[in-house]
Amino acid sequence: MTSAWSALTKPTSFPLRVRTFAAFPAPRLFDYDTVTSHLSVADAIDAVESAFGALAKGQVDVPMPMHIGVAETPTAGPGDCHIKGGYVLGAPTFTVKLACVSFYKNLEQGLPAGSGLFCVVDAVTGAPLAVLQENRYMTDLRTGAAGAVALKHTTLPGQELRIGFIGAGAIARTMARASKAVRPHFTGMVYGLAGADDFANDMHDELGLDFTVAASARELCESCNVIYTQTPGSDTVLELDWLQPGTTIIASGSDQPTKQEIPNDVLKASKYIADLIKQTSKVGELRGALQAGVMTEADVHAELGQVVNGDKSGREGDELIVVDLTGTGAQDAAIGQVAWDKLRNL
Ligand SMILES: NC(=O)c1ccc[n+]([C@@H]2O[C@H](COP(=O)([O-])OP(=O)(O)OC[C@H]3O[C@@H](n4cnc5c(N)ncnc54)[C@H](O)[C@@H]3O)[C@@H](O)[C@H]2O)c1
Repeated sequence: MTSAWSALTKPTSFPLRVRTFAAFPAPRLFDYDTVTSHLSVADAIDAVESAFGALAKGQVDVPMPMHIGVAETPTAGPGDCHIKGGYVLGAPTFTVKLACVSFYKNLEQGLPAGSGLFCVVDAVTGAPLAVLQENRYMTDLRTGAAGAVALKHTTLPGQELRIGFIGAGAIARTMARASKAVRPHFTGMVYGLAGADDFANDMHDELGLDFTVAASARELCESCNVIYTQTPGSDTVLELDWLQPGTTIIASGSDQPTKQEIPNDVLKASKYIADLIKQTSKVGELRGALQAGVMTEADVHAELGQVVNGDKSGREGDELIVVDLTGTGAQDAAIGQVAWDKLRNL
């Protein structure tokens, strides 16, 4: 049977237009196993660092994220779909990402509550090149890569690093792997409401570094000079009095207006660096400090890309530094390009 669309592929009196529609090959489809077995966080760090640099120069088109709420009804939901994307000026591709989260009824079927894909698009023709079923794996990689960029610019090469992880879930693991890629020698400590023992054992085996489990967030803060926080962000997780001089905090748990991991007085006392001020002021740690009147945007030291570009300082002495990572479309665009470059020849 001939459908209306296939009829269009037959020669008509408008051959040029018809050929134009048919000319693009179908996008390549890469399944989850292929994506996860060919990409690691180390692959993403250089590209994400460059993307931050371009972002700070105004060379990345990053629209605000889009959200589709799927209300719970007898036929669907509950769940949320987040859509992000970006284009780095001069790159051969751009990326749109679709992340579905909180589909909690899946759990009753033995399925995960989240899934997702990246669509990598040819920036010359506008034709989709690839659909990558990544189920948040690439988001974790680009988040870890941002953590590595932050670590690289807020610590000194050769410095003795005692790196703490508050929250022991998926993002903590990607941060640990990313840290090893830019600062190969550190001792690790972890505190989490759940999963800390498994995290310490697994990271020790995988990275070949010492990891210990802290009995409290306070113990961790008093022992570490770098602290990654990646909890769901419903409560603040540390206090100003617990922190050592010269500490770097890299906070990534807050990516919604309901979340805050870092207390306002810590933010105020720090050299505060945002991944993207227009996001951190709405959904990051900065939001709470602005709303409380404790900080203004004039208190922001830099965006991370300005530090990458050498336009603003990173680590100078024993100042407290907070890097606020909410996740940007620039990172998604960067990891999309990396993935396409690695997978296209399979
Ligand atoms: N910034 C970004 O780009 C980005 C990207 C992805 C996810 N996230 C956010 O990162 C956060 C963590 O994500 P995940 O996938 O690792 O979650 P996860 O559920 O895998 O892990 C969360 C961990 O935090 C621990 N935890 C919760 N509350 C705690 C507390 N008060 N003190 C100590 N530990 C606590 C839990 O026990 C668990 O170990 C979420 O809020 C998520 O939305 C941010």
